[in-house]
Amino acid sequence: MSHVADILGSLDLPPYDPTPLYLRLQEQIKTAIEAGKLKPLEALPGERDIAESFNVSRVTVRKAISGLVEQGLLTQRQGSGTFVAVPPQRVEQPLSRLTSFTEDMRLRGLEASVVWLGRTVSLASPQEAMRLSLSPSDTVARLRRLRFANKVPMAIECATVPTRFLPDPESVGASLYDVLEARGCLPVRALQRLHAANLNAEDAAMLEVASGAAALAIDRLSYLENGTPVEFTQSFYRGDAYDFVAELNLRRE
Ligand code: GLP
Repeated sequence: MSHVADILGSLDLPPYDPTPLYLRLQEQIKTAIEAGKLKPLEALPGERDIAESFNVSRVTVRKAISGLVEQGLLTQRQGSGTFVAVPPQRVEQPLSRLTSFTEDMRLRGLEASVVWLGRTVSLASPQEAMRLSLSPSDTVARLRRLRFANKVPMAIECATVPTRFLPDPESVGASLYDVLEARGCLPVRALQRLHAANLNAEDAAMLEVASGAAALAIDRLSYLENGTPVEFTQSFYRGDAYDFVAELNLRRE
């Protein structure tokens, strides 16, 4: 009892208050987070302890918690419990420079890290062949990564690179562009398309946001100096973590 009460206080139950219990409990948890009694990455007391301490049912506690997970204030990891979410640091990215994720983070003093979701080599799909100017018998390396900044998930990226530029996807450690540079095929120009998207449940869970949350979908097709396409990447960046900044100049003829 005391542990939960120390963190969350006691539930104020004025008579005749029509607010549902689970919403009041949510407010209480929110207040504890805002007051710093529960810090980012800290575990929430167990469902049963909260229910006992507040004398409410576990269903009420579960409902309160799932609402806060939806709002992005809490995250749930299977088997290990419920934690206070880390608010992402907003990252501003200029739209006119061709930089890598690793470099973008380094420039902001953030440490980039990666969780591999897949790396394979296979024949180019018809769509990939068209985009990357390949023939259907050419092979491509596909890299699917969940990318983090200071351990906060920021983006899901699927990169496709012809194997003549990247024969072994296992050779990529932290940065794809570092490997391309070392192989003498770092892209120098790219076309990038940005559009809004809503994350599906699976991607949202990986990015630790609510299902359907807003994201920035970015497609990048990048080229070598001689105009050969070297990479096609589709990314979903967390909408609450990214600002893209473009410099506009008045053209005077
Ligand atoms: C950005 C781009 C991707 C590119 C990646 C390379 O995130 N959107 O198109 O593949 O940078 O980053 P890194 O070299 O860190 O793997």
